[in-house]
Amino acid sequence: MNIFNTAERYGAVAITLHWIVALWLGGLVAMGLYMVGLPDVGFDKLKITLILYHKELGLAALVAATIRLAWRMTSKLPALVSTLPYWQKVAARLVHLSFYGLMFALPVSGLLMSSAAAIPVSVFGMFDLPDLVAPSEAMFRRLIDVHRWLGYALLLLIGLHAGAALMHHFVKRDDTLQKMLSSKAAR
Ligand code: HEM
Ligand code: HEM
Repeated sequence: MNIFNTAERYGAVAITLHWIVALWLGGLVAMGLYMVGLPDVGFDKLKITLILYHKELGLAALVAATIRLAWRMTSKLPALVSTLPYWQKVAARLVHLSFYGLMFALPVSGLLMSSAAAIPVSVFGMFDLPDLVAPSEAMFRRLIDVHRWLGYALLLLIGLHAGAALMHHFVKRDDTLQKMLSSKAAR
């Protein structure tokens, strides 16, 4: 097992971070969409409880994104499969870059939203984060929209990115998905 990336393949750390963050973000989008659809009263305050968990898990996603970006910036970037047409190489890199943007923009917009609503964000029950912006109902409403549309953008990119990966695996039968599953080249 190779820990580090090489010029051709992702290493075990990059692969592990990729799948943990993918599951985490997918879970947070599903949770976000589910919890905002719940009625404000009833269900034994289920909505409020889920929002509290969502905020803490979202904060953890920000930590994970920071670790991932640090690893990405200090590692080799494996080449894309060489048979990919130029436009697909550009599109793939653009999607990857946008993912990094969303990995930060989503939790940051969530934090700003809570601050604008004057609702403190607890750091895993240890202490509350200081307010980032002054309380403002108008800004709170705007940030809810921003957070929601960033969530939709993430869903769209996951669809494109996962669809492309599966197409390469099952139709083109190249090494694209295999590179993100194992640090060793298939023989
Ligand atoms: C990568 C991390 C995150 C993802 C993917 C994510 C995703 C989402 C999504 C999809 C929604 C539903 C939006 C809607 O339909 O209105 C939502 C709602 C929400 N998120 Fe996040 N979120 C993240 C991080 C955070 C963080 C860090 C906070 C705050 C500290 C936060 C606070 C909230 C709140 C308060 C709502 C409910 C908004 C409302 O009342 O409509 N989120 N989130
Ligand atoms: C929230 C979900 C996801 C995010 C944020 C994400 C993000 C990324 C990013 C940023 C890269 C570039 C490498 C890196 O910097 O680590 C990448 C590569 C890759 N991802 Fe994802 N990904 C997600 C879900 C998925 C899914 C569901 C699949 C497969 C079904 C997948 C398959 C791949 C493959 C095969 C590569 C390697 C592409 C190559 O270099 O040839 N990803 N992903």
